[in-house]
Amino acid sequence: MEISAYLDRQKKRVDRALESLFEKELSREYSRLAEGIRYSLLAGGKRIRPVLALAAIEALGGDSESLVPLVLPLELIHTYSLVHDDLPAMDNDDLRRGRPTNHVVYGEAPAILAGDALLTHAFTLLSDPVYDKVATDSRRMEVVYELSVASGLCGMVGGQFLDIVSEGKALTLPELENLHCHKTGALLRASVRIGGLLSGATPVQMEALTRYGEAIGIAFQIADDLLDVLGTVEELGKAAQKDAGKNKNTYPGLVGIDGSRRLAEEKCKEAHEAVAILGQKGEPLALIASYIIERRN
Ligand code: IPE
Ligand code: IPE
Ligand code: MG
Ligand code: MG
Ligand code: MG
Repeated sequence: MEISAYLDRQKKRVDRALESLFEKELSREYSRLAEGIRYSLLAGGKRIRPVLALAAIEALGGDSESLVPLVLPLELIHTYSLVHDDLPAMDNDDLRRGRPTNHVVYGEAPAILAGDALLTHAFTLLSDPVYDKVATDSRRMEVVYELSVASGLCGMVGGQFLDIVSEGKALTLPELENLHCHKTGALLRASVRIGGLLSGATPVQMEALTRYGEAIGIAFQIADDLLDVLGTVEELGKAAQKDAGKNKNTYPGLVGIDGSRRLAEEKCKEAHEAVAILGQKGEPLALIASYIIERRN
């Protein structure tokens, strides 16, 4: 299987579904805010979180077509995290997904509110009665719990806090792994677990998806840290060579380029082993793990 064609196909399904969001609101009195939300949401992006959820659903034989709307919340939360991550009070970045950042175009207060609305809408989608027939209330409630824990204080938000307060301090390797597990790992772990929850995974399958999600979660941020050092602005569509100047704690900063690559490969191997029990249908998940550490953006 050709992973780039697979990713492209899945990304297109996600993009099509995202395009219909916040469309009606473009004719409301807060149309400028809706525009700002769509500016960041539809700027591209790899859509790796909803794609992972779809890959997990398909690995378990679930109906990924009808479940597309229920994996979009992952991308809404991720996009909100990027809009806030780029704010002057956070990483203070001017470029994201190849465009000027949200606050540069729309202003700081509207960018904060765009993030707030994206976060809230994730839970509007999951609790919308129109999806009653797509997944039972109890399954959707499990997804709400999974996503809210992964996004909040004990997940991404807590990790972002650790990232900011650790600037200029030298963390140990276990402390850095903990930071990355929270700020990036939690939402990636939740992505595959949500796929599992929506397709009625058995406990053994859920355990495999969880181990896979934890491994790729760390690998993803190691790759992001490496790309900051080795990539170009043109490739990344965001700033490069920025982390060292901000005294961020990163894998290359702590264990070097080769050490980081080795750790990423170990995590990738762990991910492959975890999904081996899913057989042939789990192949896309294994290939996505390899893609995550080899990607150029
Ligand atoms: C970047 O995420 C921020 C991190 C969590 C490392 P992605 O690399 O998934 O960014 P997009 O969505 O493709 O723009
Ligand atoms: C951000 O990590 C993780 C998030 C939760 C958004 P980074 O700050 O390294 O992400 P980039 O490099 O700006 O995309
Ligand atoms: Mg950051
Ligand atoms: Mg950043
Ligand atoms: Mg980064």
